[in-house]
Amino acid sequence: MPRPASCAIFSRANAGADLDSRGLRPDIEGMSLPPGFLDELRARLSIGQVVGRKVMWDNRKSNPGKGDLWAPCPFHQEKTASFHVEDAKGFYYCFGCHAKGDAITFVRETENVSFMEAVEILAREAGLPMPERDPQAQEKADHRQELTDVMEQAVQWFRMQLRSGAAAEARDYLAKRGLDEAAQARWDIGFAPDQRQGVFSALTGKGVRPEQVIDCGLAAVPDNGGAPYDRFRGRIIFPIRDARGRAIALGGRAMDPNARAKYLNSPETTLFDKGRSLYNHKPAREAAGKGTTLVVSEGYMDTIALVEAGFGATVAPLGTAITEDQLALMWRMSPEPVIALDGDKAGVRAAMRLIDLALPLLEAGKSLRFAMMPSGMDPDDLIQAQGRDAMSQVIEQAVPLVRLLWQRETEGRVFDSPERKAGLEKSLREATAKIADPTLRGHYDQELKDLRWQLFNPRKGAAAKRAPWRKGGPAPYGQALGVTLGSKASPIAGGPDSAEERLREMAVLAILITNPEQIAAFEFQVEGMECIDLEHTILRDAILACDVAGDMRAQVADRVGAPALENLFAERHVQIVPAVMRPGDTDVARLCLTEAFARLNARRGHARELSEAIQDISLAEDERLTHRLNDGNAALDRAARGDTEDRTEYATGDNGAKVRRDEKDAFSSLLDGINFGKSENGPTS
Ligand code: UTP
Ligand code: MN
Repeated sequence: MPRPASCAIFSRANAGADLDSRGLRPDIEGMSLPPGFLDELRARLSIGQVVGRKVMWDNRKSNPGKGDLWAPCPFHQEKTASFHVEDAKGFYYCFGCHAKGDAITFVRETENVSFMEAVEILAREAGLPMPERDPQAQEKADHRQELTDVMEQAVQWFRMQLRSGAAAEARDYLAKRGLDEAAQARWDIGFAPDQRQGVFSALTGKGVRPEQVIDCGLAAVPDNGGAPYDRFRGRIIFPIRDARGRAIALGGRAMDPNARAKYLNSPETTLFDKGRSLYNHKPAREAAGKGTTLVVSEGYMDTIALVEAGFGATVAPLGTAITEDQLALMWRMSPEPVIALDGDKAGVRAAMRLIDLALPLLEAGKSLRFAMMPSGMDPDDLIQAQGRDAMSQVIEQAVPLVRLLWQRETEGRVFDSPERKAGLEKSLREATAKIADPTLRGHYDQELKDLRWQLFNPRKGAAAKRAPWRKGGPAPYGQALGVTLGSKASPIAGGPDSAEERLREMAVLAILITNPEQIAAFEFQVEGMECIDLEHTILRDAILACDVAGDMRAQVADRVGAPALENLFAERHVQIVPAVMRPGDTDVARLCLTEAFARLNARRGHARELSEAIQDISLAEDERLTHRLNDGNAALDRAARGDTEDRTEYATGDNGAKVRRDEKDAFSSLLDGINFGKSENGPTS
């Protein structure tokens, strides 16, 4: 049963500690209930009636006279009736999914509302007046109400300014970022003109008291005590609303890339407690309540882009790292939010910090997953460059927290001595010791033990170690998305089968960027390329979208971010591809591409594409090239190289088939000689 709900008004000091049995703060809305109120409420309610609005009782199984009621469970899909309500006890329990609770829990879960809101709903229904707030609380609530009204007026004024002549640049900026007028309206986006007293005089002119404008954080009084001045000047305005949709703060984005602060947010005010607010809270809660995956992004624009792309249950913290309170709010919306962090060093660091914050708070049904954006991208970039499907894929590939913890403790390290192995065991145990829930801690220890066993017994554990995620599970954190977490995370680490393909794909991408004149000839294959990495798909699409007459590197960097491009060219195997070493040599580029595609396609068994590649190879071969290959190659004797399919296809060639095969083998050997292709034994780096 819940704790007596008479506890003090919520304060920061008891954050996280003062939870009732359902992990709720009975007073989260800043209000307290008198002793006995909840008992009175429960006594007046029939849980059968409350639940009965949402389920169809199974008449054969139920015995209404005894208050013994059965129905198909509203919390999980089923045809049988395993959901049991005992009216006398005021409790429900599902024998299928083990959902359980009382009338308040039921309303909370089915309406996806807060504890206090559920109490209000039920009290109204039971005809029980909500307790009088104490006069001080009432006064406070009134003050709050006044301020939210002022905030709302400000939001509307900023919106109007966005349509004014002074906001032409702001409108262009928003259009450039893909937000049309309808989207701007949906998000109440506005513009703060570059004036000392814009919103200040607009509001005070309408009768708002100057102190109220200041209390809202819209204007500030200078240190020397002069006239109040607007806090937001020359910025695009993103209103921040609370869980009930009331405007409580603003975020303002500078358009000038050199501005001192990219985003300026409202200060902490009576209305705005940064660490306990979430951007897009109310709509996200509603969407999550309907079963949409809750996604947590880093910022305003990411949230907007995600929601506009259909991921309605997205929230973001407000310019600070995620706090414990924000985690609690997220878990009230969804048992397993997906943290979508930017694919950069800061994003990885934020994820690592979040692990430490979350560990002590984890419970069964309260966890996190991590989705890492391709390097150099945030969700907004990814959606703009690749569309919603790419984003969904990243979300689907999100890895559980335990994986990320493992990665953090092992990445880039070598465990080649008993001391080092013991060290790993110790650091893992220290991490799991933070988990308060003993059952859950046990599961973490077991999982980490399995991972350790696989790491320390590479042969026995090889199959599992190579690609445990292949069988339907998500790719390991960072790896599938090409984010480098540590020195060990090179593409070669992806497992023996994929490493070669990954390198070939990287070679193709790098060749196309360095030799854009080849794009037209290979367009068909490039478009049909089924990339092994999402990051490669993104690069591929960026390349296809470029103007080949322009500066390719700059254009690609523009689309995918400079780090993704740098990663590609930093790969040693890419650097030594002849066509990358000598850009502009069209013959070499053509042959390298042909070769790479032939191999990629052969491996993937695409017979049709293979024969096209072979045709291209024939076209690519002229005498000049043959000579050069013969000159540059000391490994002609390795005729055994090449797949069986390759060989067969070659043998069927019209004229000079044998010569051609030799030439091709020679080229393969050339590539092998410079360590671009890998031997059958799997790659080493
Ligand atoms: P980012 O720098 O990732 O910005 O900051 P963004 O959300 O991708 O925005 P665009 O695409 O550049 O416009 C993430 C979040 O951190 C906060 C904001 O809440 C932002 O949305 N932030 C960032 C600040 O509060 N101040 C800053 O100067 C920068
Ligand atoms: Mn961004």
